[in-house]
Amino acid sequence: MEDKCKVIAVTNQKGGVGKTTTSVNLSDYLAKFKKKTLLIDLDPQASATCSLGINRRLIKHTIHDVLLGKVKMMDAVVNPQYASCDVVCSNLSLADLELEVADNPDKLFLLAEAVDSVRRYYDYIIFDCPPSLGVITLNALYAADSVLIPVQCQFLAMDGLTQLLNTIKVVQKKKKINGKKLEIEGVLLTMLEKNVKSCWQIVTEIKECFGKKVFNTIIVKNVKASEAPMYSKPVSVYAKSSIAAKGYRDLAKELIQNNGK
Ligand SMILES: Nc1ncnc2c1ncn2[C@@H]1O[C@H](COP(=O)(O)OP(=O)(O)OP(=O)(O)O)[C@@H](O)[C@H]1O
Ligand SMILES: [Mg+2]
Repeated sequence: MEDKCKVIAVTNQKGGVGKTTTSVNLSDYLAKFKKKTLLIDLDPQASATCSLGINRRLIKHTIHDVLLGKVKMMDAVVNPQYASCDVVCSNLSLADLELEVADNPDKLFLLAEAVDSVRRYYDYIIFDCPPSLGVITLNALYAADSVLIPVQCQFLAMDGLTQLLNTIKVVQKKKKINGKKLEIEGVLLTMLEKNVKSCWQIVTEIKECFGKKVFNTIIVKNVKASEAPMYSKPVSVYAKSSIAAKGYRDLAKELIQNNGK
């Protein structure tokens, strides 16, 4: 059977650039567009889990248990109250993973194996990565088909991108040996302040650097995007007509179009 699933890692080791906000709202809108979507929280901070109102104490199984082989991925899937996608949660215990798997020769492929077991159930699987290039993010890059890189329209936006791209190149080379790929799904400009001239300079700079790889959709800075998590809701439910909701709806549409499905 043809593999219809696209696995996308939302990643940038720079903190606070909109990875979680993008992962949550993109996953929700993909699901709203009738694409079966699974969001996997890969950050020990568990921001995605928390922003969907999934109570940490009530979670039976987390991605940490899955990566350690204690439970199957499908048994860790939960349905959030408001968002339309499925979710595999995280919690602080995931921070121990690096030490726990230190001696495991397959430590970078734990997620790839777990994800392969559920690909047939989904159209899209989205990873919310932590702000680092450690073992967790490397697992994400080996498991993913592509990377979506959120970049904040702000001073020092390019900071660290060279390091990220170098890491991606290394992983691409290693995957190629096994006939696997890691594409750049796109660079997403986030938190644009339309009235601030210097923000537009960053937009120009990023477009010059990444060309067609930059999504046409730009996510503007909008308080609704930052308020929605306080109510356990994706922005589509919290503020349907907001400019943030439109942004993520447009992004989901653009991504579906780019993937020809
Ligand atoms: N479009 C937006 N408009 C306004 N605020 C936003 C927007 N996108 C994200 N934010 C806010 O910016 C902060 C950082 O966003 P987010 O948590 O998504 O980034 P992150 O890259 O996941 O951070 P970390 O690296 O810590 O995981 C959050 O407080 C979030 O609510
Ligand atoms: Mg985050």
